[in-house]
Amino acid sequence: MRMSNQNTKNDYLIASAFAKINLHLEILGLRNDGYHELSMVMQSIDLCDQLRMKSSDDNKIILNSSNPELTIGDDNLIIKAAKLLRNKSGMNHLGVNINLIKNIPIGAGLAGGSTDAAATLVGLNRLWSLKFNMNQLEEIAKEIGSDVPFCISGGRQLCFGRGELLEKVNNKQSTIGVILVKDPSIQISTPMAYKRYKDQFAESYLSSEVEFENKRNEARSFDWSTDKFIDEHKTIQNDLQKTISPITPEVRNSLTVLKDLPGLKLASMSGSGPSCYALFSTYNQAKIVLNQNLSKFENAGLSAWACSMKSFGVELKNEII
Ligand code: C5P
Repeated sequence: MRMSNQNTKNDYLIASAFAKINLHLEILGLRNDGYHELSMVMQSIDLCDQLRMKSSDDNKIILNSSNPELTIGDDNLIIKAAKLLRNKSGMNHLGVNINLIKNIPIGAGLAGGSTDAAATLVGLNRLWSLKFNMNQLEEIAKEIGSDVPFCISGGRQLCFGRGELLEKVNNKQSTIGVILVKDPSIQISTPMAYKRYKDQFAESYLSSEVEFENKRNEARSFDWSTDKFIDEHKTIQNDLQKTISPITPEVRNSLTVLKDLPGLKLASMSGSGPSCYALFSTYNQAKIVLNQNLSKFENAGLSAWACSMKSFGVELKNEII
């Protein structure tokens, strides 16, 4: 979370909500609450949505979106986050008008909805002068979704439990460049991906806390605080890829195109897909490779972005809207 003009009280604010990719996604077992026990490494990237917020005193929470595909009612995580935060504050008169500029593709495995919810919590905490601290915001975030706590502080973190137990590993700026691709014709439902994984692999699930902790320690034993993983890891583990790739030609197509790019270090699906990414030593290299291969992405029907890694999550700016 980053703020500028921290001491100024304004009734308008712009919150940047960054997408994430999974550098590691391992499914350990099933929890009593029906969620999966996970061991993940999540990483913020600079592809972001913008939430332009203007506060009001009329109790109205209003959302407009640049993407007509997105519902703007109570099922939108932005509305859910705003109402939950207002509820926790006990100040029912609070209102806000949010204009969402949607750049992160929907249903893509990039935590687009979760990061918008995180930006709503951080932004409204400031706009409504609520003074919840970071830990309190993360607690509230858990009630909205498993990835929302990570998206608040972002950067690179180990994420355990159902994804909400965070261990920050890196505050330094990474130099790694990312080429991200997504077939715009397809979205994947996260619950479907986990259900399919369970149907296929439940027999190999671990079940005891000791086994879970051993797996967490395996993830912790690698030094994620530098970028050396891109040279030292031969592959990226994403367990959901095992279940999604065989039924999703768009994912296989994306990985084939990425793996053919010159200079790539590692490639994987992100989250529950279908977006996939390739890692390069530097952002500049990723940008050059992207520009030299635009027709390849286009012929394969893929949208493509060159991104850098971010060392923080939601960013706030006071600007006239
Ligand atoms: O927490 P969130 O609402 O983002 O999760 C969406 C769905 O993904 C859950 O309802 C569940 O089906 C699945 N999920 C899971 N285990 C997790 C996280 C998500 O099974 N750790």
